[in-house]
Amino acid sequence: MFNLLTMSDLTSQEIYQLIDRARQLKKAPADELAKNIYVSNLFFENSTRTKLSFEVAQRKLGMQVIPFEVTQSSVTKGESLYDTCETLASIGVNLLVIRHPQCAYYQQLQNLSIPIINGGDGAGHHPSQCLLDLMTIYEEFGRFKGLNIVIVGDIKNSRVANSNADTFKRLGMKVKLVSPKDWQLEGLGEYVKLDEVIDKIDVAMFLRVQHERHEVVDSQFSKYEYHKKYGLDQRRYNKLASHAIIMHPAPVNRDVEIASELVEAPKSRIFKQMTNGMFMRQAIIEFILKKNNLL
Ligand code: CP
Repeated sequence: MFNLLTMSDLTSQEIYQLIDRARQLKKAPADELAKNIYVSNLFFENSTRTKLSFEVAQRKLGMQVIPFEVTQSSVTKGESLYDTCETLASIGVNLLVIRHPQCAYYQQLQNLSIPIINGGDGAGHHPSQCLLDLMTIYEEFGRFKGLNIVIVGDIKNSRVANSNADTFKRLGMKVKLVSPKDWQLEGLGEYVKLDEVIDKIDVAMFLRVQHERHEVVDSQFSKYEYHKKYGLDQRRYNKLASHAIIMHPAPVNRDVEIASELVEAPKSRIFKQMTNGMFMRQAIIEFILKKNNLL
């Protein structure tokens, strides 16, 4: 079974192939090439973008989307994740997209008879987000090698940072990180101060503060102080190079990670990331189905 669980499942050549295919799909919509394929999206953690853009992508590919709501399923009666997935496989579902709060939830699914696309596992990985981010950067610059990127925010608790930092480096980008001490994760890259690099970077990627993953209640957290030290305000925006772009996986905490009035500023690609996400998810589904001889 070929699954997309982390970016390590893809070679660099396959990453470029997915970007090319997603860009083709953006120019010319695909035929309903997966009409006889049944898919279910199992989201054990909330989502707006990932769940709905996968669903739009699936419907545009002509797929049969079988609704699954955790709260109305037998998960509430104690059904294990493995049993839920294998049940769906047994009744004829061909592909699963899963988001789960548990890091590496997929380790318990190794013997499944149905392929999985990981829609995000705790603070682990978010491969479809990484691929749509790469597509957005490639559309802007036409290359990765030598680009300077800073990833800012709650690095330790962010599956986006985890997937992106390693993959960006693999493709030749120079990655710097900015984060409060408590939210730093060693091994992903060099930590710097935002004001030291803001005028030198090509891409500034801000991350959502992941309060839901913090073990200690953030009673001391001040939105104002965080924004002042780590947020994008007008002063920092003005320092960006003319060609630089701003990204954020969203949802954005307005006036925390990014000043509300800058979310749709000319350098922002935040909504373009979401648009690209649907095309990238079409490309991912097609790729996984072909890898598993389902297309
Ligand atoms: N970026 C992202 O994963 O958004 P959702 O949580 O809304 O899916």
